[in-house]
Amino acid sequence: MKTAIAVMVSGGGTNLQALIDAEAAGAIPSGSIRLVISDNPNAYALQRAAKAGIETAVITKKGRSAAEFEADVTEALRSHGIDLIILAGFMSILSSDFTARYPRRIINIHPSLIPSFCGKGFYGLHVHEAALAKGVKVTGATVHFVNEIPDGGEIILQKAVNIRPNDTPETLQKRVMRQAEWKLLPKAAELVSAEILKSKTEV
Ligand code: GRF
Repeated sequence: MKTAIAVMVSGGGTNLQALIDAEAAGAIPSGSIRLVISDNPNAYALQRAAKAGIETAVITKKGRSAAEFEADVTEALRSHGIDLIILAGFMSILSSDFTARYPRRIINIHPSLIPSFCGKGFYGLHVHEAALAKGVKVTGATVHFVNEIPDGGEIILQKAVNIRPNDTPETLQKRVMRQAEWKLLPKAAELVSAEILKSKTEV
């Protein structure tokens, strides 16, 4: 018995790759990645999933209502018996109706030390541009539960990364990914998978 995990992606999938590699290395014993959902048919993350033999689903939001999009996502999650949803570079906003249906069952990786540089408009490179513009000496990554407030859910894990004098947004993003995101997300996946497994096996 393992916690069934779905990873939702939109882009390169380096965080998905970290999860795949961690599972293969036995670092996520309580969970198993069963499905990768992308809102972008061209996401390289889909190739990474296919190479790892993980089932994929492309569910696009473009030109559709949030309700239609989320109904398809919900059906894919239900039909695969998913217990835990991991947002890994997923760019579509999920409504509060959707997140309310999965309390403590959706986690997200954000490339800053929340509550700094988070919320509306803070995604991808913009996060690192803001950190450099502010002149902070330390940044990092955060894994948190997802609720109706963008990047507002309970914090699960954080890891700090030093900023270097000659950092650009790109060099900083790469170092935060390598030193923080790719380490934190698998750890958080195991922590929450074990919590879910425990609640499922408790009478
Ligand atoms: C990463 O910066 C991550 O922090 C953010 O999305 C970006 C893309 O990550 N959530 P990935 O390579 O698609 O996993």
